[in-house]
Amino acid sequence: MQKTSLSWKAAGLSVGVVPTMGALHEGHLSLVAAAKQQCDRVIVTIFVNPTQFNNTEDLTRYPRTEAADTALLASHAVDVIFAPAPEDVYPLGFASQVTVAGVADPLEGRFRPGHFAGVATVVAKLFGMTLPDRAYFGEKDWQQVQVIARMTADLNLNVALQICATARASDGMALSSRNARLSPADRAIAGQLHPVMRACAQDLIQGQATAQIVAKAQKALIGYGFEKIDYFTYCDEQSLVSLDHFAPNGRLLVAAWLSGVRLIDNVAV
Ligand code: PAJ
Repeated sequence: MQKTSLSWKAAGLSVGVVPTMGALHEGHLSLVAAAKQQCDRVIVTIFVNPTQFNNTEDLTRYPRTEAADTALLASHAVDVIFAPAPEDVYPLGFASQVTVAGVADPLEGRFRPGHFAGVATVVAKLFGMTLPDRAYFGEKDWQQVQVIARMTADLNLNVALQICATARASDGMALSSRNARLSPADRAIAGQLHPVMRACAQDLIQGQATAQIVAKAQKALIGYGFEKIDYFTYCDEQSLVSLDHFAPNGRLLVAAWLSGVRLIDNVAV
């Protein structure tokens, strides 16, 4: 993979990478489309990274749809699908880890211990394996983007990060590989998440206190049938420090459980 990438660069071509865990949907494909538009050559990586799953059941249940993924990517004319085996990514004796302090600690970091060390390590490795000029990530995983940006800057990785908007279904639900696990009835309930967030955004803009709005929203979600809310928070979008009232660069971030499926979403407010 490195040789191919270096030969492209030697010929003056720009190289983009879209890291994924497969089970591709329109959200992933919007990243691929952006990469195709901005780069001469595009690599899509598919690797269900075991080290970022803090829960083994989530790892074993993670959808794997290789044939469909390959067909989708062929129709988007990507140059390389790079799908390494776990033993090639983590060979015997592998002993290094990238951990990011600060921005990786709250929210997902708190509820999924070890998750971001797994993400940061594999993304650093994928950058090293594919040697891209640009790498494409989705706003859907907002905190992940902040962690990767911190790591890329801190480790002088010389990759330009391109952040793409969240692709949504017609009811506003953020597209996610985990949505496939929802029954039709649960999928209808899940569709309430985005409207609740939009309503919160309006209330924040009108000056209501965060604590009051968040309490109302959590109650509404439980009323719709969500089982548990890991967090529903309004933060500065870069530091992820919570905000008690509307502020420039604020963002609402949510993680909530429905029938054992953990859904996350975020919107700029
Ligand atoms: P995965 O969940 O497969 O997502 C791959 C990329 O697609 C991520 O950058 C994610 O933010 C983006 N994405 C997912 N759903 C999206 C949507 N609805 N709209 C726009 N973009 C969306 O995120 C990962 O994999 C992994 O953590 C990875 C970065 C590959 C490291 O293993």
